[in-house]
Amino acid sequence: LIGQKADKEGFKVYGVGGFIRDLLLGKDNLDIDLVIEQDAISFAKLVSKHLNGDLKTFSQFQTARLTLRSGTRIDFATARIEYYAFPAASPEVEESTIKQDLYRRDFTINTLAVELNCNSFGKLLDFFGGTKDLKKGVIRVLYNLSFVEDPTRIFRAIRFESRFNFNIEEQTLIFIKNSLETGVLDKLPGERLYEELRNIVDEDEAVNTFRRMDELGIFTKIFPNLNVSQDKLVKLQNIYDILNWYERENKQKQEKFVSKEAMVFSCLLQDQPLPIISSILERLKVPQKIRDVIITTVKETESLSSKLEYTEKNSELVQNLEEIPLETILFVLADKENQKIKNKIYYYLEELIGAGVSITGEDLKTLGIKPGPVYKTALEEVRKARLDGLVTTPEEELEYVLD
Ligand code: CTP
Repeated sequence: LIGQKADKEGFKVYGVGGFIRDLLLGKDNLDIDLVIEQDAISFAKLVSKHLNGDLKTFSQFQTARLTLRSGTRIDFATARIEYYAFPAASPEVEESTIKQDLYRRDFTINTLAVELNCNSFGKLLDFFGGTKDLKKGVIRVLYNLSFVEDPTRIFRAIRFESRFNFNIEEQTLIFIKNSLETGVLDKLPGERLYEELRNIVDEDEAVNTFRRMDELGIFTKIFPNLNVSQDKLVKLQNIYDILNWYERENKQKQEKFVSKEAMVFSCLLQDQPLPIISSILERLKVPQKIRDVIITTVKETESLSSKLEYTEKNSELVQNLEEIPLETILFVLADKENQKIKNKIYYYLEELIGAGVSITGEDLKTLGIKPGPVYKTALEEVRKARLDGLVTTPEEELEYVLD
């Protein structure tokens, strides 16, 4: 459809970037990136008439995004030419617009394009050796100032390296190290740093990416004094294992959302003083809700685990855990080795969470109890008795109230 529309209306359209890279690697990618040699917004409008979806246009960037019901996103970008990359004397000025657009991208593996117009449909454009690097498993920049112009590419390089089990090419690694030396990350706005860290958190190979960040000294560049020891990397891996377990267990139950990033940040920042943690979270512009969970987790992990050590009754277990964010509870599982404490948490999560009582205020009314705050107390007491196995049926619950 895209090719037909492009032909009919006189547009030149290419599939580019991560979408083509993943296609060649045989991996799924729900984000389709298109580059149009003319105005992308007009083309996106044309296409959206024929595909059911939600179209958003960004005129200042000459881009548009069409989100289809299936979840697939199609990004339309107008081919960009940045002349600084092609000094006037260079013969490349004569090159096609698409080539110039691809040249400003991060790594050779992301510069592959496929023609989508019908007469040349499927033709692969590889101006910078992307296919060869993809085969060799190499992450290579296109020009030496790439990381200085866009320091977020440092994070992207190590993210792709771990994700695809590739290697950063030797010269590219030197460019990374040099740019780190000159302090490029100091100039990166907090929000962009946060976005890059979140992208890493979402990777399957996040722990390896964090290990590589540490090896390259990136952590200490962005958070002075942060020490990512082997022990911390093990705990990070535990967090991912626990989250996978939790997701598997609760797939059907539609349990509430757990913030992976809150747990990972808690682990990274755990041994820093609280004012430092707060200033880091402020700098990154972490949303308040997530900030609160991180602070609670860092503050409460120790006290919660010592409390749990001496908790015997189910009702006490529930009381201790009910008001605590789920992230903090799961974090204790990843952070502590004490099996007794872990078993109690697993028991709470598997058996006790959300446990209630069978009787209601209506039942209390029929018993002749006058409505008032006493109802709440009575129902809470019944719930405790039920949790501790003192009552098991609705009849026993009522008897318990009368006693
Ligand atoms: N890009 C870039 N420099 C950046 C970010 C993006 O050159 N700092 C380019 C890359 O060519 C990339 C394309 O923009 O392929 C699209 O960006 P994005 O969707 O973030 O990248 P993907 O490669 O698709 O990465 P991911 O698989 O993580 O979504």
